[in-house]
Amino acid sequence: MVQSGYEPLRQEEPATKEFPTDAHQVQRVEPHLQSKKQSTIWTLTVLLLILSLTANLIYLTPIISWQRGQAKEDRSYFVHLSKNVTKMIAPDDRTVDDEMWQNPRYNIYHGMVALSDEYVREHNLPPAQRYPWDSSKSIYLLHGFHSMHCVLVFRQLIIETRDNLLHGYSIEHMTHCLQALREDVECKADDLPRFVGRYGLEKDSAVVHPGHGQNRHCSDWDQLHRFALENTACYDESRVQANASLVDAYKFCPDGSTPWIGD
Ligand SMILES: *[C@@H]1O[C@H](CO)[C@@H](O)[C@H](O)[C@H]1NC(C)=O
Ligand SMILES: *[C@@H]1O[C@H](CO)[C@@H](O)[C@H](O)[C@H]1NC(C)=O
Repeated sequence: MVQSGYEPLRQEEPATKEFPTDAHQVQRVEPHLQSKKQSTIWTLTVLLLILSLTANLIYLTPIISWQRGQAKEDRSYFVHLSKNVTKMIAPDDRTVDDEMWQNPRYNIYHGMVALSDEYVREHNLPPAQRYPWDSSKSIYLLHGFHSMHCVLVFRQLIIETRDNLLHGYSIEHMTHCLQALREDVECKADDLPRFVGRYGLEKDSAVVHPGHGQNRHCSDWDQLHRFALENTACYDESRVQANASLVDAYKFCPDGSTPWIGD
C-alpha cells in the first residue's frame, strides 16, 4: 500500500478558535506584575530591571554572534549544503514511467567521486581504493546517490511486477536496498510535524493526507550533483564491455574528458 488515505476527524469549529493567540497569552501573564507593592520597591524593581537588561545586552552580545556563527555550521559537513530549498509536501501523481526517474542527476555513477588525500585527511574519512588516473586521490560513493539508486531499484521492481517481467535485481540486492532506505529514515529521524486534517492543499478534498500543502526545508540536490561532477571518478560500469578490464570502467567522464591519457 503506497498511498494511505484516511478519513479526517470532523471538526465543529475552525482551528483558529482552538489555539490561543499571542494576545491571550500576554494577558494571562500580566497579573504577576500588578502585585501591591510600595512605590519605592516598585521604582527599585524597575531600576534593577533596567540594570539587568543592560547587563544582558553587554553579556549576551558575544553569545548571539557566536550563535550566528553556529548557524553557519548547520551546513552539511562534507559538501557544505545548507537547507536552502523550500519544498511543498504535495501529491505527486507522476507514474513510474515518467522521465523524471531517468534524469542523469540521479545516476549512481555520478555519485562515484575521486577525493584528494588532503580532503580525505581534513574530513577524517577512512582510506579507500586509489583513483587509477591520479595517485593522490581515492574513490568514494556519495551516500545520497547510493540511496537514490535504491529508490530506482524499487521503481524497476514496480515496472517489472506490472509488466510481468523477470526481476533484474536479485532478492539480496533489493533487500540490501530496503535496509539502506530504512536506515536512512531512522538516521534522519525527521521531526517535522505534518498537520492532520482538512487544511492546506486538501481543504476541500474527500480524502486527505497529513501535511499536504505544508513546506519543508531541504538540501539542494543539484548542489550535491555539482560537487559530484566536479570530483567525478569517471566511473560507469554499465558501459564497459564484458571482456574489458576493470579499470576501463573509469573511462567515462561525464564531461567527456580523458584523464587516463594524461597531458
Ligand atoms: C543553496 O546554497 C548554495 C551555496 O551555499 C548554492 O550553491 C545553491 O545554489 C543554493 N541553492 C538554491 C536552490 O538556492
Ligand atoms: C571485446 O570484445 C569486442 C567484441 O565483442 C571486441 O571488439 C573488443 O576488441 C574486445 N575488447 C577487448 C579489450 O578485448
